[in-house]
Amino acid sequence: MRKPIIAGNWKMFKTRDEAINFILQVNDKMPSIDEVDSVICAQFTVLRCLVKRQLNNLRIGAQNMHWAEEGAYTGEVSSSMLKSIGVTYVIIGHSERRAMFNETDESINKKLHKAFEAELSPILCVGESLYERENGLTEQLLEGQLVKDLEGLTKEQVKSLVIAYEPIWAIGTGKTATAQIADETCGFVRSVVEKLYDKETADAIRIQYGGSVKTSNIDELMSMPNIDGALVGGASLKADDFITLVHAAVK
Ligand code: PGA
Repeated sequence: MRKPIIAGNWKMFKTRDEAINFILQVNDKMPSIDEVDSVICAQFTVLRCLVKRQLNNLRIGAQNMHWAEEGAYTGEVSSSMLKSIGVTYVIIGHSERRAMFNETDESINKKLHKAFEAELSPILCVGESLYERENGLTEQLLEGQLVKDLEGLTKEQVKSLVIAYEPIWAIGTGKTATAQIADETCGFVRSVVEKLYDKETADAIRIQYGGSVKTSNIDELMSMPNIDGALVGGASLKADDFITLVHAAVK
């Protein structure tokens, strides 16, 4: 039985006051961590103030990190820095970072290795563009990303990994993949993990769907056998919506 995981991805939204206001509203309304992992992935400037206020059933994550331990990388943040302030999750390879900040599967792979070394829980994002979806290239693209992104990771690491399947055409567009498409594709991602590792690993890994998840479609998405949670952008910015989304994940 895989524990569901709902993660909010705040992207470049929320000042310190807005972040504090949000966490004070949701903190004591999160379901038990025994039933669902509820995570907020925020930008670096508010991570510490969220960690300081988080109650037991909420976890705080970052949206990116560098693969090096430390060094002359102006503007970057390391895994140890995140770890040292109490952050537990980190999103790696979001499509916006791949598209706008030149992240490659090679750098994503290095970041995953480093995140595991630092004992952070990575959420790896994969997903196809509209062109790839419409031209029947989705499976080829996803398999290619997974082979490169997971290279060299041990079975134990991959069992504890969270993968967010996020079709790029569904992100921030209001255009959600149908629950069937989302489930089928998450199932495909699981089959690639089985091919690269084994059935035990594929059964253990948690796969989220992401892309215009909202309170009106979360129930249907969560009822699907291959979907273990959601990575939520826009709808995670409103406290009431986030509370509804995490409760929808309680089986
Ligand atoms: P969205 O974003 O929910 O606003 O579509 C999802 C994501 O980019 O993780």
